[in-house]
Amino acid sequence: MRLRSVELEVPDRDSAVRFLRDTWGLLDAGERNGTAYLRGTEDLSYVVSVAQASASAVAAVTFSCSKPEVLKIRKRAAAAGAQLGPMRDFDEPGGGSGFSLEGPEGHVFRFVAEKKRTKKLRPESDRPMQVTHVVLNARDREACTRFAVDVLGFRLSDRTGFMNFVRCDRVHHAIAYAQSDNSLLNHIAFEMADIDAVMRGIGRLKDAGFETFWGPGRHGPGNNVFAYFVAPFGAAVEYTSEVQRVGSSYKAGTPADWKWPPNRNDHWGISARKHPAGTDFRFRPLVT
Ligand SMILES: [Fe+2]
Repeated sequence: MRLRSVELEVPDRDSAVRFLRDTWGLLDAGERNGTAYLRGTEDLSYVVSVAQASASAVAAVTFSCSKPEVLKIRKRAAAAGAQLGPMRDFDEPGGGSGFSLEGPEGHVFRFVAEKKRTKKLRPESDRPMQVTHVVLNARDREACTRFAVDVLGFRLSDRTGFMNFVRCDRVHHAIAYAQSDNSLLNHIAFEMADIDAVMRGIGRLKDAGFETFWGPGRHGPGNNVFAYFVAPFGAAVEYTSEVQRVGSSYKAGTPADWKWPPNRNDHWGISARKHPAGTDFRFRPLVT
């Protein structure tokens, strides 16, 4: 199973698409039924969908699965009493079938076994490859983490004083839960080819009038290079690279393992965080 895409709803679809394509660097992956699809250079049909709606929302965080994986998660979720959507076919790039479910705080996850494989594109020195993680605010991150592990089949990678990181493949985290007083989207991270690509991305955003609100820096858990921005449509977005790949022998860290010296909150310490965590993107309740 692999993190694939984030399904967004915004009041001004066209301007969000313009930013994600012309400034952020994603590529057009077509349009269907009023929803615009954007992709990176990896072998995924798309990584962000943008639909027009009256308010900003996340409709789902989508995972690419095999058919048996979809069925296994559905069975465990039903046994756990989770809110489940019906099994259905999807009219979107990649097609396929699957279902959505709601986590304990209304975070919606969708599991899709695609019909069509997508070819990888030639990597480019400043273009996002894929979405590599999504961070979600949580009132009870331990309960959300238990759901991700016991029901979705994720593994716990690390816990810090305010975040839990879980993975569904070798990438250190696909989802992280940030302790909060709400359950909103925190940010979406796009993987770049290397540090140079992250820096080129920062330069391109600077040319377009966007400063980082945190970064460049290098995180503790995941050891990834990061640069965070607020997109004009309100979502916090991250360029990242060198995300740690881990195997089954990886020992999950605890808050005691992830302590920074005073006045530090990353490995480099060259950039202070200037923006509160989170966005105004809530999850749209699942239609069952
Ligand atoms: Fe991140």
